[in-house]
Amino acid sequence: MKEKLNAIRQAALKQIENAKDLDALNDIRVSVLGKKGELTQVLKSMKDVAAEERPVIGQMVNDTRSAIEALLEKERTILTRKLREEKMKKEVIDVTLPGKKKMTGHRHPNQIALEDLERVFIGMGYEVVEGPEVEYDKYNFELLNIPANHPAKDEQDTFYITKDILLRTQTSPVQARIMETGRMPIRIISPGRVFRSDEVDATHSPSFHQVEGLVVDKGITFADLKGTINQWAKEFFGPDTRTKFRPHHFPFTEPSAEVDVTCFKCGGKGCRMCKGSGWIEILGCGMVHPKVLKDCGIDPEVYSGFAFGIGLERVALLKYEIDDMRLLYENDKRFLDQF
Ligand code: DAH
Repeated sequence: MKEKLNAIRQAALKQIENAKDLDALNDIRVSVLGKKGELTQVLKSMKDVAAEERPVIGQMVNDTRSAIEALLEKERTILTRKLREEKMKKEVIDVTLPGKKKMTGHRHPNQIALEDLERVFIGMGYEVVEGPEVEYDKYNFELLNIPANHPAKDEQDTFYITKDILLRTQTSPVQARIMETGRMPIRIISPGRVFRSDEVDATHSPSFHQVEGLVVDKGITFADLKGTINQWAKEFFGPDTRTKFRPHHFPFTEPSAEVDVTCFKCGGKGCRMCKGSGWIEILGCGMVHPKVLKDCGIDPEVYSGFAFGIGLERVALLKYEIDDMRLLYENDKRFLDQF
């Protein structure tokens, strides 16, 4: 028994001295002092030792245990310190290096223009609603008085998912969706992305944004439309802005108009911005066609309304005097950082 204890002690101490890292130390601790460790096994076999020898052997086991534990602890301290020193050596901090700048993003010019625009209409009591970009032909065309063979469908060629489902060419289908709900009165704007099968150039893109407006109530007249657009134009482009309503045709409004604003660059005298005319076209509008009201479940004898559609990129470009729409989509930081 004594020899065995001695052997365990010598072997363990040697192993501990040679241990390279903390894991190795732990393995030794388990294999010697653990539940199934060598020394523990010896303790268990004490019952075979003659009674008078037991105190002596017991004392020896305790001594062996203390010696092993002491050396384990000593080595552990040494190894821990060594590890720390190596880590510190690797993690030298050069306080003379320049700091890393935090870059904060900001709103896109389109978004800034949209929020400016929304603020004005919300101030007039409008609600902002959204409609789907993937839309039924029924809402995009049919209910807006643009039947299957209408020439307007040529001008607004788009991307078809099926014969009846397409990428919306305008935000106007939201008009039909809102009217259909039957909730009165209606006073909404609806911004969103629209799609057309157009080639990219300075003023065209296959995907751009519009803001639709719709008001339906009893006794709404063209005067309300004019007052609303005038008020928005002044708040959005500046207090001296004047508007001009030119007769036009849209299938879903009657009468219809296109609206120009006085060029905010030259004030109406004529410049490069307004191509010499003093006026800049910004939107289409009109009184909601009685057939559209009826098809959407509203009695045109009781209710009337007006609608308008603003090209968001168009007003954003004008507001910031940008002459090429492509700049809004190219994500060139040198451009975007200016806003
Ligand atoms: N949706 C039309 C377009 O994309 C714009 C428009 C014109 C909207 C007149 C309207 C409106 O609501 O009344 O060309």
